[in-house]
Amino acid sequence: MLQAGVWKDTDGNFINAHGGGILHHQGVYYWFGEIKKGKTWLLPDQKMECYRVPASGISCYSSKDLKNWKFEKIALSATVSDTESDLDTSKVIERPKVIYNQKTKQFVMWMHVDYKDYSYAHAGVAVSDNPAGPYRYLGSVKPNGQDSRDMTIFKDDNGSAYLIHASEDNNTMYINQLSNDYCSVTNQYIRISEGKRREAPAMFKFGKKYYLLTSACTGWSPNAASYAVSDSPLGDWKPMGNPCIGPFSETTFSSQGTFVLPINAKNGKFLFIADRWNKTDLENSRYLWLPMEVKGDIINITWSAKVPD
Ligand code: GLA
Repeated sequence: MLQAGVWKDTDGNFINAHGGGILHHQGVYYWFGEIKKGKTWLLPDQKMECYRVPASGISCYSSKDLKNWKFEKIALSATVSDTESDLDTSKVIERPKVIYNQKTKQFVMWMHVDYKDYSYAHAGVAVSDNPAGPYRYLGSVKPNGQDSRDMTIFKDDNGSAYLIHASEDNNTMYINQLSNDYCSVTNQYIRISEGKRREAPAMFKFGKKYYLLTSACTGWSPNAASYAVSDSPLGDWKPMGNPCIGPFSETTFSSQGTFVLPINAKNGKFLFIADRWNKTDLENSRYLWLPMEVKGDIINITWSAKVPD
């Protein structure tokens, strides 16, 4: 697959899975993402670049080789004409991520649910007995009373899981430990990158260290990524700077991160998964999957014209 070109599923349709994340379960990769469908419109009376498409649910694609993607189903459907519902098409659903809970044998999806003007700022949660879904929506929270916009989840080797979310009006990132069933947050959380306005978090582990990649907060327009390293998810995070190298590294190669997928994690090889947003035509946003290498504290993300083997 060529980078940022049109990626098609095995039926020949455009892959519609933006702001996504990947679950690797029993030898199969499941890619979940925002279905962006329909005409993009600009919200009036907003200073930021408020381009929106209505919530259309969360898609799920599966693959054994990360190249051929089969459309599985709409993992979580939007609801129509039910303005009370978080999933109503009058709202937005963003950045879905799924992890598996060994104890409850359930797949748990977290996502950002919001009003079109982003004033709701909740984290939503849904569960399923099957990786591809359909997922049953449980509801949404403001974790520990704090707003939650861009987010991700991360499952540690020991089974502990975390919700990482931009909060305090996108000023500060929170890392919040999830309950044992992963369906709610606990009161164990830390605030990091205080006042730094970071979003699009993606967390992963390599060896004994934890890494958190983020973007700056410039709407759909690309900016420089940055990362931090820590000895534990709730520990002290050391800011490290931009992991991208070479021309266009100051705009993350014209993209914004959404997930990090281990490929050969023992040898520090990962995939950096990002969106190249087309802000005036969001449905036609593209994907960028770049090789990422980690050595000690150092992450290098390099440009590659083709999706790495
Ligand atoms: C940033 C976020 C996206 C989306 C847009 C809206 O790019 O990372 O998930 O919320 O802003 O402007």
